[in-house]
This record gives sequence, structure tokens and C-alpha cells, in this order.
Amino acid sequence: MLTGRRPWMDYFGESDGELTISGLKVSQLEKRFGTPLYVYDLSVVEKKYRMVKEALEGFDIFYSIKANPNLHIMKLLSSLGAGMEVASTGELFLAKKIGVSPSNIIFAGPGKTDTELREAVVSGIYAVNVESLGELKRLELIADELQRDVGVALRINTRETAESAPEKMVGGSSKFGFDEETVVSELRSVALNRCRILGIHVYTGSGVLDVEELLAAFKRILRLACALSQELKFPLRFIDFGGGFGVPYSEGEEPLDLLAYAEGVKSALDEVSGEFDLSDTRLAFELGRYLVAESGVYLTKVIDVKESRGSTYVITDGGMNQLIRPVFMKTDHPTVVATALDSKGRPATIAGPLCTPIDVIASEVEIGTADVGDLIAVFNAGAYGYSMSMLYFLSHPLPAEVVIDKGTPILARRRGGVEDALIHQVNY
Ligand SMILES: Cc1ncc(COP(=O)(O)O)c(C=O)c1O
Repeated sequence: MLTGRRPWMDYFGESDGELTISGLKVSQLEKRFGTPLYVYDLSVVEKKYRMVKEALEGFDIFYSIKANPNLHIMKLLSSLGAGMEVASTGELFLAKKIGVSPSNIIFAGPGKTDTELREAVVSGIYAVNVESLGELKRLELIADELQRDVGVALRINTRETAESAPEKMVGGSSKFGFDEETVVSELRSVALNRCRILGIHVYTGSGVLDVEELLAAFKRILRLACALSQELKFPLRFIDFGGGFGVPYSEGEEPLDLLAYAEGVKSALDEVSGEFDLSDTRLAFELGRYLVAESGVYLTKVIDVKESRGSTYVITDGGMNQLIRPVFMKTDHPTVVATALDSKGRPATIAGPLCTPIDVIASEVEIGTADVGDLIAVFNAGAYGYSMSMLYFLSHPLPAEVVIDKGTPILARRRGGVEDALIHQVNY
């Protein structure tokens, strides 16, 4: 049994020793939809979005689809007013599919192909977050060819980073963005007729819980945006502050103090308001994890329990093929025996069915006792769960996804079958 405070449990309940999601027992969900199963509680997504919008008044929020491209989640966020941050034409396709206005779409990410840039220009999205001089030149050529103007945010690789970020995206040498110290000379080397520089984009890092670090990054970006608009003489219409807001993954971690952050943001804006007029500037964050991680649970069934040289192994029907993040980030997600929350027992390793020793969901965790047929719940699976995983490894059927909308479970992605192993295989 876990003993400390478990922030992720704030969004879930318990009934007869069993985990409930939006009031529904996990065994009910298993009976109806089977396992392995991703379950997303839409009320959690809504709550998180509203929290952010209330705290960071005046900011636009772009949802980073990469965290979870589930259409129900995207539709909900879009209906609440969120824009979409896409990083591929697939994500752009999804955003358009649910009717997001192009003026609410930005396109970030390195290695955008000509086809992707063309699609962005033709779609008339708000901004392409440009990652390099080469990409900017290609975009200019493409926009010129199409005789269309295109909004651009210069992605900047700042000198400083957020030290506590598990994934740092700026600071050193990087494939992301223009280096802060060379962006001015690089930009002066090109003539832009179709690319309209709207502002800048900085994505400092992912998974940050430290308010001071986030605020330091915010202030850096704000100052840099103002300075670059002066030096490069473009009207400052857009500042994309990235985000990187973290959520707790372990008992020692406290949730981000969003209100303290919002207060700091407000004073930082007040500080520069004497020098710079930002009344015409779109201020934005792009958030994935913070909005959706806690809404999601990955449910997997215990197939076998075994002892090996003093250690207990709980073997489940799903593993790193469907939830790779614990292996990839070398960090356990909070995990419980969802059908026996109050049981007691020795620490155990929860491992998936794949033929590799790295297929571990959680190692040596105190989860109580799991028996064959019990359900294991892995929390914070709403972000970088389904979307990040290697779903075809070992040719297991793809898992299903269910969303819970106001207490009603809805199948959002049907479970696959053995024929998934054939997907796109031809000429055999
Ligand atoms: C450019 C960019 N924006 C937004 C995100 C979303 O980050 P998070 O889900 O941590 O909010 C990422 C994540 O890698 C990113 O690279």
C-alpha cells in the first residue's frame, strides 16, 4: 500500500475497496469494454482547462495534441475555447477534422517537410513555429509559390533552461529553434515577403513543478520577445510561452502551485507594461500533460503471479507496447491494484507480456496483493500513454479507449484484433 499523499487520487474515488472513475467501478468498465483499456474522464480535462483559463486570464491555451490525440478530448477542449498545437500533418488533419478554426492552430516541431509546410500555408493556420533558418527559407519559397502570406513565430533556443525539467528543450545545442545569440544575424540574412513574423515561441522543457523555474522562464521569454521585436523590427503580435507545466508522478511531489505562478506572471507583465505595449499581442501557452495526464487511467488485467528468487512478479495483459512512458522516462507511474485497493502484501514488480526484460510497468512497488484476474490501474495515463507507445511491438491487438462523459462511458476507440498485425502490410 502507498502511504503518503497521492495527488492523482484527487480525481478518482473508491467503492468497496475498488477504484472508481467518475463513480464507475473499474470492474464494470472491464466487463463492458475488456482490457487492456485506456479510460479518460472528460470532467477532469474540463476542470484542468478551466483552472488554467481562470488563473491565467487573458492567455490563449493551445492544446498540444501529441499528449493525447483522442478526438473526444480534442473536441471538448476546442469547445471550451482551446486552440491546437500540432506537430505533424496527421495532427493538423485531426484538428481540422473536429472543426478547429485555422486561426486557432499553430504548427511546431523540427523537420517539417515541404508537404507539411505547404499544408500549413494552404490551411491558413495562425502561425508556423519555425525551427531554423533553413525551414524559414523553405517556408518563404512555398508561401511565395502559393501566393499566400503565412504567420511565423520564431522558435528560440534560449541560453538558459529549467534545470528541474525531466525533459529540457533549450539551453544547450539543440535541434529545436534558433539559438538566442544568432537569431538576429540569421534573420537579417533573409528577405521575407510572404512570411510575417508575428513573434516568438520558446518551449523550455516538460514536466516542471517548480514555480520559480517556470516564472524565470516566463520572464526570460517575455524580455526576449520584446527585445527581438525591437531589434528585428517586427510588431509583436504573438508570444508563445510554451508551458511545460508538470503533474506529480510520485508521492514526494506536490502539484504545481498554479495560482502562485499566475500571480508571478501578472507581475512580470505589469513590470514590462511601462516599456512595451502588449495590448495587441496574443499571449499563449501550449499545454499537453497538464490538461490531460490526470484524466487517464490505463487498466490492465493480471494474467499470472509468480515468485522468482525472492521477488514477486505480477504479469499483466498489457505492457510497454501500450504504455511505454515508465520505461522510456525511467520513472514509475503511480500504480495500484484497482480491484483490491486495501489489500496488503509484499512489494511486487508489475510486468507486461512482452519478451523483453525492460517491459516493466512498475518495479518493486508496494501495491498490496494482486491475484490473477485483478485489475491494475496505472495513473497519469492520459498524456503520452496511447500516443507515445509502440503499439505494434509483438503484434498484440491495439487496446481500446473509453471516455467518460458526465458519468457515461463511451467507446472512443474500438479494441483491435489479431488482424491489427496485418495493418498496411502488402504484397506478401
Ligand atoms: C513544442 C512543444 N510544445 C508542447 C509540448 C507539450 O508538453 P507538455 O505535454 O509537457 O505540456 C511539447 C512536448 O514535448 C513540445 O515539444
